[in-house]
Amino acid sequence: MSPAEPTRPVTVAVLGGGTVGTQVARLLNDSDTDLHIRMGTSLKLTKVAVRDLTKPRDIDASFLTDDAMAVATSGADIVVELIGGIEPAKSLILAAIAAGSSIVTANKALLASDGASLYAAAEAEGVDIFFEASVAGAIPLVRVLQESLAGDHITKVMGIVNGTTNYILTRMDEDGASFADALAEAQSLGYAEADPTADVEGHDAASKAAILAELAFHTHVTREDVYCEGITTISQVDIRAAKTMGCVIKLLAIAERKADDSGVIVRVHPTMVPKEHPLASVREAFNAIFVEAEAAGELMFYGRGAGGAPTASAVLGDVVVAARNRLTGSVGWGESADVQYPVLPISEALTCYYVNIDVIDRPGALASIAQAFSESGVSIQVVRQDGHGDRASLIVRTHRSTDGALQATVNRLRKLSTVKAVVGVMRVEGEAGA
Ligand code: NAP
Ligand code: HSE
Repeated sequence: MSPAEPTRPVTVAVLGGGTVGTQVARLLNDSDTDLHIRMGTSLKLTKVAVRDLTKPRDIDASFLTDDAMAVATSGADIVVELIGGIEPAKSLILAAIAAGSSIVTANKALLASDGASLYAAAEAEGVDIFFEASVAGAIPLVRVLQESLAGDHITKVMGIVNGTTNYILTRMDEDGASFADALAEAQSLGYAEADPTADVEGHDAASKAAILAELAFHTHVTREDVYCEGITTISQVDIRAAKTMGCVIKLLAIAERKADDSGVIVRVHPTMVPKEHPLASVREAFNAIFVEAEAAGELMFYGRGAGGAPTASAVLGDVVVAARNRLTGSVGWGESADVQYPVLPISEALTCYYVNIDVIDRPGALASIAQAFSESGVSIQVVRQDGHGDRASLIVRTHRSTDGALQATVNRLRKLSTVKAVVGVMRVEGEAGA
């Protein structure tokens, strides 16, 4: 398609008029004058496709339609996909690309499951596909990894990328709230996915981790490559144990390149983080991401990771760049998977652990437990005993070891006559010199 004439508005059609779509429609209509000055032309909202036309919503009814395919194939300069999920989002995006439209999407589930076919279709058609809002809401991160750090070698990306679970863990930690009450609050604030299972089971963070890993390591990574544990089993017992250890619990997404360059590991799991670490003070629905690069060193990005308006800000940023490209006849970055490291299993990850063990407090108990760790090659950093007799528990923090060695330790511990139960195991990240 030839570039748009600078004198005519750039047309924008939106698929989805929910939490994010409503705010995108509002921003497109409200900030028109500013954008006109910046771009030399205006953005014109054409249509917003929704499923249920009878639902009350803050979008002028004249924009609404329930014919999403007609909107996708309308030939708008830019089609913004904010429906979410795999289908019909994927078919609509492919149809829009075939009709010559550039795409802006916030759909991490789709990108992490089959981004490759969307990038390939966009490249073949010579249109943009941008997705800044798919990871960490308002925080500029995708473009930072794609462009700002394009000349560096990234070694690790680690952070809080799901607002809903961070909100829940904050309420549980600070107010002793129940998991269910905290989740209901997060939903009412518009942070959660349509099905909040995606948030609390870690799937949303795992999709984002796959996208980040692909961008950071120029390696094709899908959701299936990401080890994933959610927060549904976190209880006040774990929260209290973390406090005892001087930590808070966060759901972290971690993508790292092995020091020997043998591959990358991508994982999402509840993690104990020392209180003095910057990630420990990231509260409520805020997100924060650490990026470590060989030349740049450590960088940290912080901001609102969920919610209609913050996410719409990232969407609008992409729309403006896509509009400029339409005006100049250029296209931005496509997929960058030209290195292709092997994606390794979690058993290869090196990290510290907290292990909470209910023990029978008798002479030799500690020695037998220490032996179980040493026989598996896991080095103990700190041991703390609470209670005594039949009500004794040992909290052990280890030095770095592999997940495989830790699992072998837990199996050994479970066979000991001095161990009543291994009641908690959690990874610990962010310790200096561990
Ligand atoms: P949402 O509130 O559930 O909105 C989804 C919209 O899509 C609704 O307007 C719905 O119509 C419409 N829709 C669903 N199926 C449709 C169909 N077959 N045809 C036409 N319209 C259809 O979702 P959201 O929170 O705005 O999220 C949208 C996207 O942004 C998702 O990919 C999500 O992962 C991503 N995202 C969300 C956030 C956030 O904080 N919410 C942050 C970052 C990224 P009805 O209104 O008629 O039901
Ligand atoms: N449900 C997601 C979250 C929205 O809670 O972070 C942002 O992607």
